[in-house]
Amino acid sequence: MQVIDRHKVNEQIDELKQKYGNDRSALLPILQELQDVYGYLPDLLMQETAHALDLHPVEVEGVASFYSFFRTKEKQGKYVIRLCRTISCDIAGKTNVARQLENELGIKFGRTTKDGMFTLEYSNCLGMCDQGPALMVNDRLFATVTPDKVSQIVADCRRNFVKSDFPKVVPSDVKKAGPILKHGLKSGDSLKTALNMKRSEIIGTIRESGLKGRGGAGFPTAIKWQLAGAAMDEQKYVVCNADEGEPGTFKDRLLLYDQIDFMLDGMCIAAYAVGANKGFIYLRGEYLYMKKYLEEILEKRRQDNLLGENILGKEGFNFDLQVRMGVGAYVCGEETALIESLEGYRGEPRNRPPFPVDTGFQKHPTTVNNVETFLDAALIVVKGAAWFKEYGTEKSNGTKLFSVSGNCERPGVYELPFGISISELLKEVGGEDAKAVQIGGASGHCVPRHDFERTIAYEDLSSGGSIIVFGPGTDMLEVAKNFMEFFVEESCGQCTPCRDGNPKLLDGIKLLEKGRCSVTYLNELVKLGETIQLASKCGLGQSSPNAFLSIIQNFKPEILGRVPERD
Ligand SMILES: Cc1cc2nc3c(=O)[nH]c(=O)nc-3n(C[C@H](O)[C@H](O)[C@H](O)COP(=O)(O)O)c2cc1C
Ligand code: SF4
Repeated sequence: MQVIDRHKVNEQIDELKQKYGNDRSALLPILQELQDVYGYLPDLLMQETAHALDLHPVEVEGVASFYSFFRTKEKQGKYVIRLCRTISCDIAGKTNVARQLENELGIKFGRTTKDGMFTLEYSNCLGMCDQGPALMVNDRLFATVTPDKVSQIVADCRRNFVKSDFPKVVPSDVKKAGPILKHGLKSGDSLKTALNMKRSEIIGTIRESGLKGRGGAGFPTAIKWQLAGAAMDEQKYVVCNADEGEPGTFKDRLLLYDQIDFMLDGMCIAAYAVGANKGFIYLRGEYLYMKKYLEEILEKRRQDNLLGENILGKEGFNFDLQVRMGVGAYVCGEETALIESLEGYRGEPRNRPPFPVDTGFQKHPTTVNNVETFLDAALIVVKGAAWFKEYGTEKSNGTKLFSVSGNCERPGVYELPFGISISELLKEVGGEDAKAVQIGGASGHCVPRHDFERTIAYEDLSSGGSIIVFGPGTDMLEVAKNFMEFFVEESCGQCTPCRDGNPKLLDGIKLLEKGRCSVTYLNELVKLGETIQLASKCGLGQSSPNAFLSIIQNFKPEILGRVPERD
């Protein structure tokens, strides 16, 4: 049993406070760093952290127990192996990899080996859906893992390879680039242009372009920036939502590497337009391997006067930002939960109104946008609204980045115009024989073959970018089950319809699986799903039954036709 030296812990916490601050918003990063050192967060660490930040220990425990990457009860292994359980990795052969991991380590998932070397866990989407099965060992990512590769990975760990040997860059996988990815600008070009414009001109150009948020909800970016700009406060924030937790989505991971400077130009332009001087990139915990890279880019921009004080010589325009890590909670992609998390609370969505543009981070006006939205905004400022409007449909301007995975020949990132039909998209990616396509990830809709002429656009099927192709042999109930397990795990538990309703739907799916669900019971499940959609507090619960309901609607004979299992 490890004896922890209280005095040393206090010294470490003091150092961390210098780095992250004295207030509650420092709580998550402090706990993250302490867990890195001690392997878990026993009571002593939580008590001392509480004391240092003037909190009650129960508050700290409440926060630590919320996030799936924190461990309070049992020390984690030296190597924590997290295997992605999302449907795309499932299609790519996750089950065989899981079996091999259990055999190789002699433990089941959720356990730690007796020698304290390995902890084995499932993880929700790792954002490597086009290169599955994927797993992480601490902060190192492995793609296209085979059972043979598992043996190699485990052997390498046993030989004690160390963190710093890990490569940090994930290969790009752009299968089709369009006007956004082939913009041809240099870093800082768009920011220079913006700083020669009036704030109202910038927002006017964004409005004229019709840009809508690329994170999924499709809210007009100009309205958000205008409201934040009009808010009366000396202190305002701009936040990049890089939480990218929707199963099947990995386009932001690509942008954070390949387009980071242009995305940061977009954040600076937003800060200038709304009058903010501080910001954050909220990066999902699963992308920890990118943190250092991003921090180096931020430092380089400070040296180049693209961040910091009087940016590019513009007197009085000061803006700087920090990278903050998520800790394995999908709901923290919801912008108010994200803000709670930044403030050091459990990631529980807030009631709205008030909206973040009015009352956001620490009650100050806060503009939260998706990675792709900031990139698009930066390009629009230089290239003009008309350039953007050349692509897409009347109500869905521009192109969109799609993360394509599942049963298709060419999975990867595609930049395509809004308004493309599913059948055109399937031709592009080599998935013409698909039985169904999931548009918008687990929270989106499952579209059957007879609807493949429908289009991807805000006026028809909207999507934050996740497209999962299901081939002719796919068991659609398995798909519904995989997504429902995800929501049951990721619900924040704040409201009853989502917390208690989704497990009931999952029970129903399990009965269907056994061929023991009557039509009457199925109809009850459909009603329950509709109630969850209506009565849940946030977008997670409101969209959680979507996949289940669309699968029931479109594949009823397949779902009900299962032969009852014998006892
Ligand atoms: C459960 C849930 C998860 C979400 N996850 C993300 C995410 O990972 N990235 C993102 O940009 N938006 C996500 N959103 C949408 C955000 O709440 C918000 O609308 C978005 O960050 C606004 O940026 P945009 O207008 O640029 O799209 C999520 C919403 C919900 C309800
Ligand atoms: S809908 Fe679900 S995730 Fe959203 S607040 Fe309610 S319990 Fe939490």
